Amino acid sequence: MPAEIIDGKKISSDIKESLKERIEALGRSGKVPGLAAILVGDNPASQVYVNMKAKACEKIGINSEVYKYPRDLPEPELIKKIDELNEKKTIHGILVQFPTPEQISEEKVILAIDPKKDVDGFHPFNVGMMLAGKPTFLPCTPLGIMELLSRSGNDPSGKHVVILGRGSLVGRPLAPMLYQKTKGANATVTVCHTATKNLVSFIQQADILIAAMGRAKFVTADMVKPGVVVIDVGTNRVEDPSTKSGYRLVGDVNFDSVSQVAKAITPVPGGVGPMTIAMLLSNTVKACEMQSTT
Ligand code: GUN
Repeated sequence: MPAEIIDGKKISSDIKESLKERIEALGRSGKVPGLAAILVGDNPASQVYVNMKAKACEKIGINSEVYKYPRDLPEPELIKKIDELNEKKTIHGILVQFPTPEQISEEKVILAIDPKKDVDGFHPFNVGMMLAGKPTFLPCTPLGIMELLSRSGNDPSGKHVVILGRGSLVGRPLAPMLYQKTKGANATVTVCHTATKNLVSFIQQADILIAAMGRAKFVTADMVKPGVVVIDVGTNRVEDPSTKSGYRLVGDVNFDSVSQVAKAITPVPGGVGPMTIAMLLSNTVKACEMQSTT
């Protein structure tokens, strides 16, 4: 039987509806959540992402301010802008879209953002809080994956989750989020990476497979256990002359074959992507709520 499709668009739109209620409640006490998004340079994918984030904010009643700078912006000027936004009362969340041009250290950028406004959950203070199992801002893509699993009825508790990739945006933060002893987590986690030997033997053991390694259509039906739940985080551009742009997005999983044997699977696009944005909105609303009580 073909797999159930885990519909990230539908789940993210349910989440956005419930955020609207929290935004209305904040509005009754005169508060409007505000997000500042900073883009340095003209990376086409980053431009698309920042515009999508700003549009999603406006749609549910979050104020967004987008700051676009040329690719040769000196690092101190960016840090100065972040300092200014840290102090700005109408801004509750700050994000600098990565990757940044080479003269700008992503580490310095992350350290400059006030942890209370760190809606990406990248600041070492928030990473430390997460590892200690304390409430904090969690990074948007891993948080979106946790929500996709629980809202699709695929509770990871007691399951063997295999993560392909240890990147800083997904694999590295997701592993501790999945094994912590809380509701919606409590899994046994294996992280596979470039030095993993016999990779397929791990993929075969997965009850839940998270593919986040950035290799187009790498996972095929013969590698997985029948009945596996698959979350595909890959967004790989492949040439496709039949489209207007000349390319299309595919995941790290061969959807056509794996969807024939899996229990459930996320599509690309329309799976993890919309959840990342919904979680950014959620973190921004949370930042506003927290800053309103202090
Ligand atoms: N670039 C790719 N993903 C992300 C993300 O989640 N946050 C930021 N700031 N930049 C990114």
